[in-house]
Amino acid sequence: MSQVNSDPGTVLKAKRFGLPSFPDVMVGPFGHLADERTRLAGLSWNHFDARPVDATIGAELSGIDLTAGVSDAALAELRDALHAYKVIFFRDQPLTAEQHVALASRFGELEVHPFFPSNTSEPALVRFEKGADTGGYENGWHHDVTWREMPSAAAMLHALQVPATGGDTLFCDMAAAYEGLPGSVKTRIDNLDAVHDYVASFGQTVPANKQQEMRELYPEATHPVVVRHEATGAKLLYVNRFFTSHIVGISDSESRDLIDLLARQSDTLEYQCRFRWENDSVAFWDNRAVQHYAASDYWPSIRIMERASIVGERPTC
Ligand code: SIN
Repeated sequence: MSQVNSDPGTVLKAKRFGLPSFPDVMVGPFGHLADERTRLAGLSWNHFDARPVDATIGAELSGIDLTAGVSDAALAELRDALHAYKVIFFRDQPLTAEQHVALASRFGELEVHPFFPSNTSEPALVRFEKGADTGGYENGWHHDVTWREMPSAAAMLHALQVPATGGDTLFCDMAAAYEGLPGSVKTRIDNLDAVHDYVASFGQTVPANKQQEMRELYPEATHPVVVRHEATGAKLLYVNRFFTSHIVGISDSESRDLIDLLARQSDTLEYQCRFRWENDSVAFWDNRAVQHYAASDYWPSIRIMERASIVGERPTC
């Protein structure tokens, strides 16, 4: 076949390039995903089956009943699967609030969220009940609660009632996002710290007479811009527009531009997976390794979810 008529990809192989008029728009294969994708495809498990959802992130697990007693051996495998796939999904798991909390608490101490007073029978179980009167405001890429000194390590979300269409949750692999950055950006951010704060988001829901008290209880938290995963050792991009107020030691405008540049990595489709919920689906995500984004395209339909979060360690680089 002549080279003129062949697929240009056969000539360029894994080379990416910017479009001449839009040099920031790069096209071509994300070659750095290949090794991780191959590794995940080769994993096998004794207590369940796992079907990877996307290149380096997400797996749907089957053959395990979360409502029955999960053995210690199965629990250890679930933990390993969580670290491997970064988010794991289950179908047809009609967990009661008690079962949900009991299962999540076997992965660690549960977090009580100060801005979501308990609205279930369990203090550590938060119910997100959306409908005509309460829209979904989780449609921005974020890790949960990075404004805490010890942000949650993981979260287990159970769908009680989902709309016929819409309300999907998207997840982004923050190791792939870090790895995909140009070397000059990695060098620039590797030793930077960022300040995280609840004020720009949850702060809007705090009544004036409670603001001082909440500020004292939850002062700003400082975390590395790039953190190391405690279990896998992976380097992870750890800033998000919801909670990262600024990067330490650079000007306000540089800080804003840098946060924006890093946050935009999550928009890369190749780093993401998307979960289409059904009633009694469960998603269990590693809150260091992924960011998530709950699509808010279902108003005024009803979407009811319950979340239990597991307290993490202080992030380090
Ligand atoms: C969240 O941001 O933790 C909620 C995710 C969701 O409702 O899908």
